[in-house]
Amino acid sequence: MATSSSNVALLTTLRVLTFCALAAAATTTLLPLAVSPCSHSLSRTILAATGLDPFLLSCTGDASDAPPLSSHGDVDGANHKTSKASRPIVTDQLCVKGEVPPDALPPFQCCPPASASEPINFTFPDPGEPLRTRRLVHVVGDEYMAKYARAVALMKSLPVSDPRSFYQQANVHCAYCTGAHRQAGRPDLGVQIHFSWLFFPFHRAYLYFFERIAAKLLGDPGFALPIWSWDVPEGMGIPEAFADVASPLYDPIREPSHAPPKVADLDFFLQGEKNLTDQQLILHNLRVMYRQMVSGATLPSLFLGQPYRAGDPEMPGPGTVEWAPHNTMHTWTGDNSRPNAENMGAYYSAGRDPLFYPHHGNIDRLWETWRNDIVGPDGSRRRHADFTDPDWLDSSFLLYDEEARLVRITVRDVLDADKLRYTYGDVAVPWLAARPPITPGVNPKPKGGLRLESVRFPVSLDAAVTVEVRRPPRAQQLRRSLEEKAREEVLVIQGIEADAGDFVRSDVYVNAREYYKVPVGGREMAGTFATLKHPGKEGMVVRTSMRVALSEVLEDLGAQGDESVTVTLVPVRGKVRIGGLKIVYMEE
Ligand code: C2O
Repeated sequence: MATSSSNVALLTTLRVLTFCALAAAATTTLLPLAVSPCSHSLSRTILAATGLDPFLLSCTGDASDAPPLSSHGDVDGANHKTSKASRPIVTDQLCVKGEVPPDALPPFQCCPPASASEPINFTFPDPGEPLRTRRLVHVVGDEYMAKYARAVALMKSLPVSDPRSFYQQANVHCAYCTGAHRQAGRPDLGVQIHFSWLFFPFHRAYLYFFERIAAKLLGDPGFALPIWSWDVPEGMGIPEAFADVASPLYDPIREPSHAPPKVADLDFFLQGEKNLTDQQLILHNLRVMYRQMVSGATLPSLFLGQPYRAGDPEMPGPGTVEWAPHNTMHTWTGDNSRPNAENMGAYYSAGRDPLFYPHHGNIDRLWETWRNDIVGPDGSRRRHADFTDPDWLDSSFLLYDEEARLVRITVRDVLDADKLRYTYGDVAVPWLAARPPITPGVNPKPKGGLRLESVRFPVSLDAAVTVEVRRPPRAQQLRRSLEEKAREEVLVIQGIEADAGDFVRSDVYVNAREYYKVPVGGREMAGTFATLKHPGKEGMVVRTSMRVALSEVLEDLGAQGDESVTVTLVPVRGKVRIGGLKIVYMEE
């Protein structure tokens, strides 16, 4: 079995996020490295087995620009309560030049053509329209892929002034990730659709119109996007149809060593390939899927991402699937020899690759899967609910439809795929059975029994740091919600400050003091956080926070009765500082 080195290789940097992050660089998410330490930066003694320090102290709130943890009664951590004044993020027609990196490939201007008339409000398609079934690339066959190729060719042949052209469709994505689109009433703020709860709904709306434009150009009202299903073994690699240099689906700016039949690594790290056979890599990928879709995604905010409202700092925190495999597959696909891993590896350019749309079709399919069909730890099938927060539901985007009309579409509009007249049919989800194995013997008790560990927060992760974090009191653990909301025990990593001039990645292990013995895909590796490179922002920091679901991991480790959890934070790449840790119960 692979050990520490391949474990390190398991980690992923998110070069794909580089340019979206630029939008954030402008104001609030970046502070000088010499940011004032949190006000509780006294040396903290964490006592593993007494009740003296009930929750690991962190400098929450004051150490982070991330939305503060608020509480529902005594249940801490559910931070998407409706605020008094509603603050949805409403996209304005105003679009300015976004921030692309100095070494970006042209075009540099991402704003779509301005509309001569006011945007119209979205209306649902006629319920009598044929239901489009988005099927998997490896299932639909060559003829169908030739149809998608024809659609892309037709879009590429439209004049660039046409918002439905392939050129402008790619730019739409660029505009929404580089801070080009402004927020209504806040011309000082851009709309960033990554790293927050806008991620899934924005991309759904974007694909909806892309698909309808393709169908219209093909003259085939039933046309549905093919899906790149990298989560099932048959789809774990770039599909052949995209690798034919003569095809309109080909993009020369991809990583050449990842051309078919290379098996994808859903947890790709730019520092190298894992030393695994194809069969081992497939198993590892399935375990990554399990962690991101099942055990790690038990609550809406853990899956969909953190709340992001008008006026908030950008990028409060992505959901599990946005981190991986979404970002990792972007990075894996783009040309790793380019500083920004274009095309797929950088958001400003990702839409230029025709593979982007089948990739996002799979992301969208996983949202449907999460809502409909996840099997719980006890074997029961579980549906998950979306947010009901009006700030989420009322957030809106401006996109061009198949008639080249500018349409305002809200998050509320995209929650029912059936009403949008598409479906994914029945797709196998082999990762449901890929619950990661535990690694025996990696958490030896400290010699001499009871031991104090002193950790001063904020702590710089120059080396791995192990902390005993106390769990909430038993009474709180057992407390049942009257409303039968989903509950989860969550490790909150607050006040993350990462070097803005680099890709930064660290991993989170649970009950694994000897974390380097945990093999790739091991249960104890409970999460990863990574922040982005911000070219030109050296000496600044990115501030964010992270949440890791613990319930099922602790159950598998036989640690449900423990009073504390051993958390090991392992730096993998770049400089990062942590404001504090705590364990809370979240209820959503
Ligand atoms: Cu908006 Cu896959 O990125």
